[in-house]
Amino acid sequence: MTLKLATAGESHGPALVGILSGLPAGLVLERDAIDADLARRQQGYGRSPRQQLEQDRVEVLAGLRHGRTLGTPLALVVHNRDHKNWEWGMSPWRPDGDPSGKGTKPITLPRPGHADLAGALKFGHTDTRNTLERASARQTALTVAAGAVAKALLREIGIEVEGVVVTMGNIDEAKADRDTVGGIVEARARGVPPGLGSYATKDDRLDARLAAAVMGIQAVKGVEVGAGFELAGQRGSEAHDEIFKDERGIHRETNRAGGIEGGVSNGEEVVVRAAMKPLPTLMRPLRSVDLETGEPAEALVERSDVAAVEALSVVAEASVAFELARAAREKFGGDAVGDFVAAHGAYLERIPWSAR
Ligand SMILES: Cc1cc2nc3c(=O)[nH]c(=O)nc-3n(C[C@H](O)[C@H](O)[C@H](O)COP(=O)(O)O)c2cc1C
Repeated sequence: MTLKLATAGESHGPALVGILSGLPAGLVLERDAIDADLARRQQGYGRSPRQQLEQDRVEVLAGLRHGRTLGTPLALVVHNRDHKNWEWGMSPWRPDGDPSGKGTKPITLPRPGHADLAGALKFGHTDTRNTLERASARQTALTVAAGAVAKALLREIGIEVEGVVVTMGNIDEAKADRDTVGGIVEARARGVPPGLGSYATKDDRLDARLAAAVMGIQAVKGVEVGAGFELAGQRGSEAHDEIFKDERGIHRETNRAGGIEGGVSNGEEVVVRAAMKPLPTLMRPLRSVDLETGEPAEALVERSDVAAVEALSVVAEASVAFELARAAREKFGGDAVGDFVAAHGAYLERIPWSAR
């Protein structure tokens, strides 16, 4: 029993779609809670006007009846409201009539730091729009929708996940210089029982799985669990979290391991941090090469965020929630949500630990 998410959708195409399978039946989902997370992803200092234009809302086409999951695949859709301006340019079928609206002219000016050149070479695209439409972080709307569903499942067993910004470059200065900035975000999960993930193989390790989930988000170039890179410079006596026992059970007074040892959650808060590079689309473009002429040229300038660090904190929260929910499904199983909750309860009875 595991959760799976398959997604499709271009940034300015008709919609983003996702199929989320592996949910138990009877899980209550709130449309407003999913939409609230979609709105959080769109907000934040430094984002482009597109975010006001869109106001994402989730549609559910299957797997849900009267707000409760059916135990069958959940089909999610987030429409791209901006598509109305791109109907010709992003028409899935050969468009009728004369070109109109946006996206009608091929783009041949790859942006350093974006997927444009790599995608053009790999797939043979002569119009880099064919790459950027999917490489763009627009698809993280679906990650966030699925993450909101995962959070509802995790809440059933007392797990809460939250993403926050740790640091961010100076946006006002960057904007004035027509530049971009990155930053660091952190996702924290409370109430995670010991025992999610495993040391048995590298594919099972919870730290590896969380790192892959977070590194899978556009523009993330570094991930650490707990004190991460800092541990490399410390002595063992200061790096490791000593073990104590009191009336609540076994616990630690420090959490430099970020809640994971041996690829297994240890009952402390799970803490994952991600470093985001500065966004590649600059209003003062970097040097590039025109793929049509082979001549030096300036990279594409297109409406873009100055920073998306706050948005990343929401996407990282969703990604960590999804991976934890996946690990929890593997451990506790259950076709009905009650079975899942009962298995979690029975497990907690067995071990000397209680959530703090
Ligand atoms: C939430 C979010 C919003 C983003 N917005 C932009 C943007 O407006 N402009 C841009 O150039 N890159 C943006 N990016 C980053 C690019 O999508 C990313 O750098 C690009 O796809 C290349 O992938 P890579 O950085 O992982 O190598 C955003 C990333 C995230 C997570």
